Amino acid sequence: MIDLMAAEVIADPYPFLAQERDRHDIAWHEDMGMYLTFTHELSSAVLRDRRLGRVWIDREPASYLEPFNLLHRNQMMENEPPEHTRLRRPVAAAFQRGHVERLRPRVQALAGQLLDELGPSFDAIEDFAEPLPVLMIAELLGVPNADVASLRAWSQAIVRMYEPGPTQEVIDAAVVAAQEFADFSRQLVAARRSQPLDNDLITELAASELSDDEVVAAVVLLLNAGHEASVNVFGNGLVGLLRSGSRPADDPSLTVEEMLRFDSALQLFERTAMKPVQLGEVLLEPGQKVAALLGAANRDPAVFADPDHFVADRDPNNHLAFGAGLHFCLGSPLARMELVESLTVLFQRYPGLRLDGDPTSRGTFVLRGYTHVSVSG
Ligand code: HEM
Repeated sequence: MIDLMAAEVIADPYPFLAQERDRHDIAWHEDMGMYLTFTHELSSAVLRDRRLGRVWIDREPASYLEPFNLLHRNQMMENEPPEHTRLRRPVAAAFQRGHVERLRPRVQALAGQLLDELGPSFDAIEDFAEPLPVLMIAELLGVPNADVASLRAWSQAIVRMYEPGPTQEVIDAAVVAAQEFADFSRQLVAARRSQPLDNDLITELAASELSDDEVVAAVVLLLNAGHEASVNVFGNGLVGLLRSGSRPADDPSLTVEEMLRFDSALQLFERTAMKPVQLGEVLLEPGQKVAALLGAANRDPAVFADPDHFVADRDPNNHLAFGAGLHFCLGSPLARMELVESLTVLFQRYPGLRLDGDPTSRGTFVLRGYTHVSVSG
């Protein structure tokens, strides 16, 4: 069975995932202690089936890990209805109030400013893909620019916990980061409570029916989810696009969907059976876990013609990169807008953009991405 931590799998998981898919659509993974799904059909079923849920269990030792646990226990992504509905509603309402569209000209301007600083050769991650979504989510939530660097560092420390088998060093760093991130968000929420701002997302959340811990967890979730995947989607997608020798399509939104599909920035999402569930050949008993492998689903030849090729104008493109069902990504309109605008500006400035050598992987399976992508043009 595929070893998700093996260096060659992290370097290029797709041949290994294809081999597994040829053998079974679902299979037990002994080391992970859960089933894995390899097809689009079953991964989609895992995400949509209401009998399979995100059931949060505090990580042990619980008192030591409380800062990490508190942020997760109180956020929508780790809860099922009715809690999920209660936690998601005010955030979704705030997102629908036009906050995303007002950022479109800001994304265009910021992308331009970032590129103004660059010469003919640069690092597409550090110099472009990373600062943009971090600055945008900070702007959406009214976080001062001076705090953006800490935000990125906290988020990076926390997401390391989502990989299999975190070391004690990773755990310690995540606990410190979770505590500092929560304190920072608590101060921000308190500031908006005492001095509400117009047209401000945190002001709206602070005035909602959510408790203090829930608002803090929502703010951290948005700051975290709001940039982590976007950086990697851009990096992975850009590498896929440039290696394929193509350019963004006339309709860049098609290329963005292919960037999302081709090399999934988020590879694995877990669910726990709350009732017996038949998945393909397997009957899951309550309490058993299953993970949808989104990268495997997004390369399934039953759904995508020529799945291992980056097709810049692929249409239709029914990928699962934003998930499906109840937990479908709340930030997808923001992520899509940012990706379309930043891709467009990048290729307007650098029509001859090309890769310089091999990019450097971040070395993790679940959050798949690059730390450096050298390009010139
Ligand atoms: C291209 C970038 C992004 C990708 C690939 C992505 C992907 C995902 C996926 C797969 C899920 C579902 C998790 C599950 O089913 O367990 C999810 C949930 C979520 N995402 Fe995103 N996301 C992206 C950007 C964003 C942004 C920009 C934001 C916020 C500003 C955001 C906020 C959220 C939230 C709040 C949830 C939880 C929804 C819920 O549990 O109901 N995401 N995202």
